[in-house]
Amino acid sequence: MEQQKIPYQRVIHVCTNFREEGACCSKRGSEHVLEKLKHYVKEHGLKGKIRVTKSGCLDLCQQGINIFIQPDGIWLKGVREEDVGQIIEQYLKI
Ligand code: FES
Repeated sequence: MEQQKIPYQRVIHVCTNFREEGACCSKRGSEHVLEKLKHYVKEHGLKGKIRVTKSGCLDLCQQGINIFIQPDGIWLKGVREEDVGQIIEQYLKI
């Protein structure tokens, strides 16, 4: 096993978990949120600085879409697709 520092300035974890029954982030459009954030990172040359990645269930399914951001220690809940612009403004403009 090797160890190194995380090479990104920021990592954004978007829950994309889907479950047949009950609430889940996927049913609320988390895949679309993920793709919009990834697209922004790619289009603005932020690869290598910001990593946007899928997360499994974060156990707050009723409050999804859930996103957590490291190293900031920020948890966003109740995210909707229309919030992507605000997330970009706050966390992707580094
Ligand atoms: S499905 Fe996203 S927190 Fe459980």
